[in-house]
Amino acid sequence: MSNRMWGGRFASGPAEIMEEINASIGFDKRLAPQDIRGSLAHVAMLGAAGILPADDVAAIEAGLKSVRDEIEAGRFVFKRELEDIHMSVESRLTEIVGPAAGRLHTARSRNDQVATDMKLWVRDTLDSLDQQAADLQRALAETALKHAGTVMPGFTHLQSAQPVTFGHHCLAYVEMLARDRGRFRDARARLNECPLGAAALAGTSFPIDRHATASALGFDRPTANSLDSVADRDFALESLAAASICAVHLSRFAEELVVWTSAQFNFVKLSDGYTTGSSIMPQKRNPDAAELVRAKSGRIIGALTGLLVVMKGLPLAYSKDMQEDKEGTFDALQALSLCLAAMTGMVKDLEPNAEVLARAAGSGYATATDLADWLVRELGLPFRQAHHVTGRLVGAASAKGVGLEELSLSEMQEAEPRITDAVYAVLGVANSVASRTSYGGTAPDNVRAQAQGWIERLG
Ligand code: ARG
Repeated sequence: MSNRMWGGRFASGPAEIMEEINASIGFDKRLAPQDIRGSLAHVAMLGAAGILPADDVAAIEAGLKSVRDEIEAGRFVFKRELEDIHMSVESRLTEIVGPAAGRLHTARSRNDQVATDMKLWVRDTLDSLDQQAADLQRALAETALKHAGTVMPGFTHLQSAQPVTFGHHCLAYVEMLARDRGRFRDARARLNECPLGAAALAGTSFPIDRHATASALGFDRPTANSLDSVADRDFALESLAAASICAVHLSRFAEELVVWTSAQFNFVKLSDGYTTGSSIMPQKRNPDAAELVRAKSGRIIGALTGLLVVMKGLPLAYSKDMQEDKEGTFDALQALSLCLAAMTGMVKDLEPNAEVLARAAGSGYATATDLADWLVRELGLPFRQAHHVTGRLVGAASAKGVGLEELSLSEMQEAEPRITDAVYAVLGVANSVASRTSYGGTAPDNVRAQAQGWIERLG
């Protein structure tokens, strides 16, 4: 049997394998709510513009609503021979309201229909990702406030660099997430033009009102060029790019949690709620959730790369290649949503081991920069020379296997005779972090103020 929707000039139906490769219903059925919303806006406009008689409009509207109910109730039977969500809905509509259903497709095409559906789905998803990222920010800011004065080692090259506070480290991710949210909102603002009414590619001769459908669907305006409307998926690409960057941020934090929860570091503890045991090694607590957040960045970045490759050689306007935008986009944005939720759970759950962190913060000559700064400030040495003197003292301490603060004053004075015992005050970790009061620095007072500011702004 030829296709009921487009099979007028076809004598027979598609080959089995053609049907299999062509059908998208297996994954685009999740666009049903968007598809029906789009159709309701379209048919209302057709009625208002006098293109369809009021009784047909009423019948179609009632029919679309019952199709929606059937889908919501799980009573709808999706059939592969109907290819995609657009034809599935229309076919069922025809069964319910009869031939008038055929008028719904006046002045539109599946090309503008699918672009509209996808934009609606991506827009809703960006909104909920933004909310989820805000939840994670809130959890991080609250942890930051609680641990504004908890010292830990700050690293560069994963080598102990200078002491920082745990709260400061948390707030670094709050800032990253703020930019991620900015990218979600930018993508949303740019995608918010309605393709509906571009029809197949050239527009239509019917006197449609594209401004009406655009505003009924919450778009800012209709798209201005019919070819562009049906030919681009940059809104999906941009959203996937924003999602990829956010996923990379989460992945880096997840990596830190993996390292920090290891027995060797023992910086933080995750409860039973976010770890798993080993079936063979009873001592283990594996940070699986963090590992999976780290890993899921792979499929999110993969979806972006995949769609870029799909799009890069396509001539205008629509090509069926573009049907491949869906699975990757759905999967990636859903994966990011899961990662945000898991990260939020872990942040609320984690407990830093303050003692271990403090000990680690003081090891590895992490206050060497404070010593150099003291030499500059108190003795007026040029920083390069102070760096050199400090280097000698670190060498002396490390040869003895002791910390800088364990060198005697006379040992210090061998490197620089003017050093006094006032220097010991800056060699403590707490003094070190408290002195970092420059804007954006790690001093507990700064961290407290920043965390409070975020908590207020996030509401
Ligand atoms: N299922 C198709 C897609 O997702 C809908 C558009 C089909 N358009 C067409 N001209 N065959 O892209």
